[in-house]
Amino acid sequence: MADQKTATLTIDGKSYELPILSPTAGPDVIDIRKLYSQAGVFTYDPGFTSTAACDSTITFIDGDKGELLHRGYPIDQLAEKSHYLEVCFALLYGDLPSADELEKFERLVTNHTMIHEQMHMFFRGFRRDAHPMATMVGVVGAMSAFYHDSTDPNDPHQREVASIRLIAKMPTIAAMAYKYSIGQPFVYPRNDLDYASNFLNMCFSVPAEDYNVNPILARAMDRIFTLHADHEQNASTSTVRLASSSGANPFACIAAGIACLWGPAHGGANQACLEMLKEIGTVDRIPEFIARAKDKNDSYRLMGFGHRVYKNFDPRATVLKQSADEVLELMGVHDNPLLQVAMELEKQALADPYFAEKKLFPNVDFYSGIILEAMGFPTSMFTPIFALARTVGWISQWKEQLDDPQLKIGRPRQLYMGETAINYVDIEDR
Ligand code: SDX
Repeated sequence: MADQKTATLTIDGKSYELPILSPTAGPDVIDIRKLYSQAGVFTYDPGFTSTAACDSTITFIDGDKGELLHRGYPIDQLAEKSHYLEVCFALLYGDLPSADELEKFERLVTNHTMIHEQMHMFFRGFRRDAHPMATMVGVVGAMSAFYHDSTDPNDPHQREVASIRLIAKMPTIAAMAYKYSIGQPFVYPRNDLDYASNFLNMCFSVPAEDYNVNPILARAMDRIFTLHADHEQNASTSTVRLASSSGANPFACIAAGIACLWGPAHGGANQACLEMLKEIGTVDRIPEFIARAKDKNDSYRLMGFGHRVYKNFDPRATVLKQSADEVLELMGVHDNPLLQVAMELEKQALADPYFAEKKLFPNVDFYSGIILEAMGFPTSMFTPIFALARTVGWISQWKEQLDDPQLKIGRPRQLYMGETAINYVDIEDR
């Protein structure tokens, strides 16, 4: 094509023209799909720091500007003006819904919030002190043993049913994992409550007395869901895409995403961050921890800081910082020592040349834990809440990949550095 941009690669005097594809936003990409067949070489990119694994229209991040768009809408506008289920609709179907579309979608989700009654027995097989993420990985994976009519990823209707079931049931499963861990009875979802209020009610109400959801907490909860909904091809989303490329059923793929999110370098950072703030304890100990994070010989890192893509403030952290103020004010814990430590830690880290040079800014996990703790959640529930919120992102990316006519099973190659062929040695000769 006349205006096709290309990159020229020269190896041993032979040149190869590689097409350059231009996005609607972000960097150009060099299309290397034919590189191995043409030049007999692989590219090498452990951790995928310079690799576009797919094309997508769902979410875009500009790491230098600290910008996050969902279907083109800036995250700060969505956090301020929208709500989680409306953002879910946009992520799933491509744009914000009409009033009628939204009403139908919210009713559909509401009517799927209960889980199969027999799954209650499944919970009882776990130890009470199991981490709720362990329970969620198990229970969500087990959904493929209960919902046989929505496991075929090649059937568009089954894809739609599985999508709604997962978005609707994740709060119920997360709340049940929490209740089970504290020895309280499960609380059934209620169709008269909105999504966030329903989750808070399932977590914090008890049969012994009435529980009224505080609307400010419900709004903060909904905002936390919205801010965690999707984030391009992060580790857990890439896990879901890779699992799905083999044709695995949606519940197994989402369980794989939950497992990946659990890691402290990813979604587990919110729990690790709050535990770090508690370990620091007081403002006067901050320099000691910053020194450890800067020490090349110490693998210690400041949890809640840094990001593979953001080399500026994570826009979600900015919004969460505002929510933290509102929630702590409401809960009468505005002088929360953890918040004081967090704000002073942020101030000292951002003033430190090490963090400035490496562009390490607070990320989404830095403030979310403070809000969740103020709302009454134990740290073990922080990552399950992240998983609950991210389910719509995983599902949206899963559906997008299944609709891609280029879909192939994901199968990276390697730079092999092991032994070349050697002969077997009998044990008596070793
Ligand atoms: C999430 O990908 C996503 O979009 C994820 C996420 C999403 O919504 O899905 O945004 C959610 O996972 C947010 C990130 C949560 N994780 C943490 O807060 C854990 C602490 N952060 C680090 O583990 C780290 O910053 C990562 C994992 C987030 C990013 O790591 P990278 O991109 O692989 O960067 P790197 O490890 O190569 O670090 C670059 C340099 C290194 O120093 P040098 O080897 O160059 O000398 O910066 C240093 C690192 O040592 N560094 C840190 C640091 N993070 C990076 N030093 C101290 N403290 C930190 N937190």
